Amino acid sequence: MHDAATAAGLDAWLENAVGELSGFSDSDRPGWTREVFSEPYRASRAWTAGQMRKAGLEVHQDAAGNLVGRLPGTNPAAPALVTGSHTDTVDGGGRFDGVVGVLGALGAVQLLAERGMKLQRDLLVVDFLGEESNPFGLSCLGSRALAGELTAADLERTDYRGRSLAAAYETFGIDPAALLSAAPWTGERRPHAYVELHIEQGPVLEERGLPLGIVTAITGIERLVASFTGSPDHAGTRPMADRRDAMVAAAEAVLAVRQEGCGAPQHGVSTVTRLENASPAPNVVPSLVRLHGEVRSVDETWLAGTRSRLAAEIAGRAAAHGVEADLSWSTDNTVVRAADSVQDLAAQAADAAGIPWAPIPSGATHDAVHMARLAPMGMIFVPSAGGRSHCPEEFTSTSQITTGVHVLADTLVRLDTAHLAPATS
Ligand code: GLV
Ligand code: MN
Ligand code: MN
Repeated sequence: MHDAATAAGLDAWLENAVGELSGFSDSDRPGWTREVFSEPYRASRAWTAGQMRKAGLEVHQDAAGNLVGRLPGTNPAAPALVTGSHTDTVDGGGRFDGVVGVLGALGAVQLLAERGMKLQRDLLVVDFLGEESNPFGLSCLGSRALAGELTAADLERTDYRGRSLAAAYETFGIDPAALLSAAPWTGERRPHAYVELHIEQGPVLEERGLPLGIVTAITGIERLVASFTGSPDHAGTRPMADRRDAMVAAAEAVLAVRQEGCGAPQHGVSTVTRLENASPAPNVVPSLVRLHGEVRSVDETWLAGTRSRLAAEIAGRAAAHGVEADLSWSTDNTVVRAADSVQDLAAQAADAAGIPWAPIPSGATHDAVHMARLAPMGMIFVPSAGGRSHCPEEFTSTSQITTGVHVLADTLVRLDTAHLAPATS
């Protein structure tokens, strides 16, 4: 499906669309910041809905806040094909994470139209609500809801100001009760397949000089909150050998978490993202410090052991300082494998266009994790300059994106008529 004339038109459209969408950002924040529930995000989604309509899609916002554009197929009774991604960003983020999957999907719709190709199935292009993790500590809000994974307890989560997720939805114009009672895309509504175009967000494709990656699996994520309790004492008089300093125990834990990722047998990473001192007086030995961190890997066996390894290491190091450590864990998502069938069809599409590719695991999480609960799932990666992402320097050239769009379009065509084994996740 690769042809130079349409590639030029698609390049111009994509370049312009990425530029226009990046204009919806919070001017008080660094980079391109368009966080879920923010005003720039609200404004941008009206623009995105307009782009969907211009591409010929029937558009609605569902009860979970997902923007869904439908390209009717010749057999609307057949389970739909789904593609898309997200248009929210992290604070201080870039212009391409998620955006490439939403605008790229619209580019694929344009390619199909230019070639006069009609799919038999409905094609749904989804801009999922709030993929990035937020102050409520929950990523992928929209895709979780579609997969039936968003719960009433989730809506009671609060941010650091005590505001609930339900209140955030309400302020954004989404009714939390309607959201919880809306039917997920399970049962009769299960899609035929889901495929998502995304930037790699890491250095592998660029380092190997490859224009395309076909995702094999998406990392699992274990999140940790550790509380360190020591003794509040005068910072000027308490002898060094007689302290129970919670900050020192937390600092030891930062190094223990780093050591965990460094010891991973294959892809494994671990990060402490936040330390909070509940006793921030400048002249008191810290007595209560809270640490937030995460461990990721596509290796389930290694990831399954991280809780007990870190519990022993962190508690041991804290005890040496007379500090108690209390660890609480949550699984943000388990490791999710891409369906072999979708990987194979994406590979056939790349091969047919003469585009070199490599199988690649994803260290970032995606809406695809939740769509994999519903349907065979696959992802197509395009390179990220310098492997940079979640920062203003994030960059993928228009021609690199266009390459991904062509493979996405051809993968959708192939999926349309393929007999697929149902989702196994
Ligand atoms: C989202 O981009 C994540 O991987 O946390
Ligand atoms: Mn993303
Ligand atoms: Mn992201």
